[in-house]
Amino acid sequence: MTMSGARLSRRAFLGAGAALSALTVLPSRTGQAKAPAPFVPTRTLTLKAGETELKLLGPDKPATRILAYDGTPFQTLRLPRGTKLEATFENGLDEGSTLHFHGIRMPNEFDGVPTLTQPLVEAGGRFVYRIPLDDPGTFFFHPHCDETGQAGKGLAGVLIVEDRRDPKFDAEHVLCLKDWRLADDGNFLPLSEPDSASKAGTFGGTRTVNGAPSVELTAPAGGDVRLRILNIDATRIMDIGVSHGEAWLIAVDGHALKPVRLDDLKDGIWRMGPAQRIDLHVRMPADGSAVSIGDYRAADIYQFATLKAEGRVAKPRKGPLALPAADLPRPDVKKATRYSFTLQQATDAAVKETGLPPDDPLAKALIDSLCVGETTYWGIDRESWPTGERRHLPPPLAGMMEGRSYRVEIRNETRFPHPVHLHGHAFDVLSSSLDRLPRHYADTVLVQPGEAVEIAFVAAPGDWVFHCHILEHMETGMMGWFRVV
Ligand code: C2O
Ligand code: CU
Repeated sequence: MTMSGARLSRRAFLGAGAALSALTVLPSRTGQAKAPAPFVPTRTLTLKAGETELKLLGPDKPATRILAYDGTPFQTLRLPRGTKLEATFENGLDEGSTLHFHGIRMPNEFDGVPTLTQPLVEAGGRFVYRIPLDDPGTFFFHPHCDETGQAGKGLAGVLIVEDRRDPKFDAEHVLCLKDWRLADDGNFLPLSEPDSASKAGTFGGTRTVNGAPSVELTAPAGGDVRLRILNIDATRIMDIGVSHGEAWLIAVDGHALKPVRLDDLKDGIWRMGPAQRIDLHVRMPADGSAVSIGDYRAADIYQFATLKAEGRVAKPRKGPLALPAADLPRPDVKKATRYSFTLQQATDAAVKETGLPPDDPLAKALIDSLCVGETTYWGIDRESWPTGERRHLPPPLAGMMEGRSYRVEIRNETRFPHPVHLHGHAFDVLSSSLDRLPRHYADTVLVQPGEAVEIAFVAAPGDWVFHCHILEHMETGMMGWFRVV
């Protein structure tokens, strides 16, 4: 395998044998036992990470050197359900990276988590991902190394899996929400501040949708619009609401749910943390009027999109247009094995564990290959994903069996909300102790301070990380993993 440690002198390398062995890719027992099913790609493409320019501060202001795949900010791939995607990732950055297809159920070896499922792809390197796209919906992809730095600078793309069974909308728009931390000269401000990383996270001051301050769209009066809204920010939690139109929530994280009128949700909004996506169905009002979509969380409402009604739809429809039910493994909630995990501020033990001095080159190489920050602020059940000079992966939070059903309670003991994501699965969100969530499938669920949320899923084979998607929280410890054999 390639890893940063390979750059070290042979003596240092041998001397650190014990430390390094903890960093080699853990063998997946199931992977070895079964011959891999033949994968014949139906679509092949390349995604090259690199720099590009975007005018984020305004047309007359200096541009920002952001990161993007293939030079296209938030590049959108639209592929039919059933596609067998072979994506070659080329790392044009000057540091290691990987590609993670967020929310996609897939073989573990293509999950893109450095150390756990694959070696880090060094600068100039490449890695081929073979991904079956079985679930329709709104997904995205992003790096899984130095995410605060890489995704924070814009490295992410949208993956839309289309389904022939989808209802026909009169218009469809993709809205990618992301904030940027910029100085007046267009350069990035530090993407993480220690004081913020240990709290709600470091916020960007320049808010954008699809890289612009806001967008103005049109749709026929009385027509039906599908909005795919993605929170690809590193930090911000948003309350998405719609004014002057009829709107239904029709999918969460890509997965259809029984349409819920937005007005019937608590406060008439859907609260969405980093990495979460929703599909909304908006029925347009009469000609000449407009619908606006915004984030109502701050006192200072951010209206990011306006939909103007223009012309007329031929045949107005009634009621919501439901998406086809997601075809997912349904957990048996009665027979499921139960777990409970608590999200915490890091315990002293985790923070104080010492290894090598931080200026030791080996310590630096170890941090690089784990793709983590230097400090631990957070943990799950008193374990923190290694940061700083801590060298060993923690033991798995749970050992599970392939095909079995599990119910996992996630308790938030901290003072901040955390959007918690499990790789490689779509889970059934069963309940919230604050009683604020309709039952739905998702890959990321927001857990409020003091809240307990229960999810259930059928375990898929492999080593899957389970982490907060506020990127600084994840990189300062709030990540663990499940081993499913
Ligand atoms: Cu969106 Cu661990 O990822
Ligand atoms: Cu968090």
